Amino acid sequence: MDKRQLGRSGEKIPVIGMGTWEVGDVQNEGRTLEIQAIRKGIELGMSLIDTAEIYGYGNAEKLVGDAVKDIRDEVFIASKVSAHHFGYDDVLNACESSIKRLGVEHIDLYQLHWPSSKVPIKETMRAMEELVSRGKIRYVGVSNFSVAQTLEAREALPRSEIVSNQVRYSLTHRSIESELLPFCEKEKLTIIAYQPLDSGRISQAKIPQAILDKYGMTPAQIMLNWVTYRDAVVAIPKASNPKHVEENATAIRARISGDDYRAISRKFE
Ligand SMILES: NC(=O)c1ccc[n+]([C@@H]2O[C@H](COP(=O)([O-])OP(=O)(O)OC[C@H]3O[C@@H](n4cnc5c(N)ncnc54)[C@H](OP(=O)(O)O)[C@@H]3O)[C@@H](O)[C@H]2O)c1
Repeated sequence: MDKRQLGRSGEKIPVIGMGTWEVGDVQNEGRTLEIQAIRKGIELGMSLIDTAEIYGYGNAEKLVGDAVKDIRDEVFIASKVSAHHFGYDDVLNACESSIKRLGVEHIDLYQLHWPSSKVPIKETMRAMEELVSRGKIRYVGVSNFSVAQTLEAREALPRSEIVSNQVRYSLTHRSIESELLPFCEKEKLTIIAYQPLDSGRISQAKIPQAILDKYGMTPAQIMLNWVTYRDAVVAIPKASNPKHVEENATAIRARISGDDYRAISRKFE
């Protein structure tokens, strides 16, 4: 699996990772299968795992913790603090709770899940800096932030850097291309593309058959290949089906050509 630099940090993360929304809510055999899917994905190189305190009200983090407990050093764990926990003490407590559920000593990337109009960003970022200095988190990221909100967040974080912005991006959801994506490319922030497979509504992307045949790839693979074409972007598809996990892990085994990238881009503009 190819890796890309995370923001301006020296850290390299896989171009394709795994999401965990709606993971961890089932019990018994269903849970075992979800753990197996994550283990398989890690084995195939998708060692960036994205989760959040809100997913399954903690169940997703618990499942990730169970999946990685004997291989913690092989994975890069990204989690998120919810906007209702953006007060200084709340951020510290939320992080501690996530760390406990994950069963780890630190979270690699801790992201503000959504911008908040209620808590001043300076207060939230002061807590994020405290978490970095206590070694509880390694990197700070944001999610669903506009350019203006990212700039404001950066101002509020004098001792650390914002390394990433996690936003919706797929062949059929392209709104970041006008402003946010060029900004992140220029400022060297990683875009972590969520819902890169349109939450499974893959047929909506209507990838031309000629392109599928040319690369011997499935529509989902072309979608992931396309969405990660630009160097600033990594993607976090969620897959519980083992066949999907394997497909996603091999989606960038060959790169679509520049001409095909542009042709697909034009078709879905
Ligand atoms: N920051 C945010 O606000 C935010 C918001 C939404 C999501 N996220 C993150 O982004 C992650 C990804 O988004 P998402 O889970 O909503 O949607 P997604 O990754 O676009 O799509 C997931 C769906 O696609 C199916 N799928 C996966 N691989 C496939 C393949 N190769 N072929 C056909 N179908 C495939 C999955 O089915 P199976 O499970 O059956 O394999 C699942 O139903 C989330 O899990 C979460 O971590 C973040």
